[in-house]
Amino acid sequence: MNHAIATFAGSAASPSDFPADGLPEVAFLGRSNVGKSSLLNALAGQRGLARISSSPGCTQTVNFFRVGDEMYWADLPGYGYAKVPEAVRRSWDRLASSYLVGREPLAISVFLVDLRHEPSEGDRTLQRFLDHHAIAYLLAASKADKLGRDERGRRLRALRDGIGRRALDVIGTSSQTGEGIAQLRRAIHEQVLAFRRPKTPPNPGPTPP
Ligand code: GTP
Ligand code: MG
Repeated sequence: MNHAIATFAGSAASPSDFPADGLPEVAFLGRSNVGKSSLLNALAGQRGLARISSSPGCTQTVNFFRVGDEMYWADLPGYGYAKVPEAVRRSWDRLASSYLVGREPLAISVFLVDLRHEPSEGDRTLQRFLDHHAIAYLLAASKADKLGRDERGRRLRALRDGIGRRALDVIGTSSQTGEGIAQLRRAIHEQVLAFRRPKTPPNPGPTPP
């Protein structure tokens, strides 16, 4: 896939701010600090596209990026950050589910988990939520650079048999070394193409004699 230029297309604090032009969308989901914004920058090959922060809870709105004329990327607020007040946490959950459930242009989601750690309770809740609503996703296991080769393979197998068993693919990624980024980019592109392909028209039934 060639590098279309990605540009910031706006922050949405409520559904009325979501894009309305029907271009396919790719959602990036995962716990706070897992590396969603970093992954967007790596996929785009543009360092300063999405804001990255070492303090969790940096992204609090759904941030949209337009990738050429092909798609939008939606950077969703992360969950599981203990220090946010309960009311703020609830409004994030509401915003994320109001985006995900029944979002027609949503072609595919990218669900990030940290390759180094066991999935958190929040990760498991999200997995059940996605499966319940039949939302298709690729599992990106982030920060692969932080593990040695053997440990990486072992953890990826555990994810494939565990939280990623219903994912369309499970890919180890590193936004720092670029590992897995081309593979993930291809997988996203494939899903967006399949989504855009015109659906076969309904069978008109037997033609009258
Ligand atoms: P929120 O916006 O709070 O939900 O976080 P986020 O998921 O967008 O995470 P972000 O991309 O801001 O990254 C969080 C921290 O993890 C930053 O300090 C990044 O530099 C670091 N980080 C992200 N991806 C990687 C990676 O692949 N490898 C390593 N070593 N660090 C990473
Ligand atoms: Mg972020």
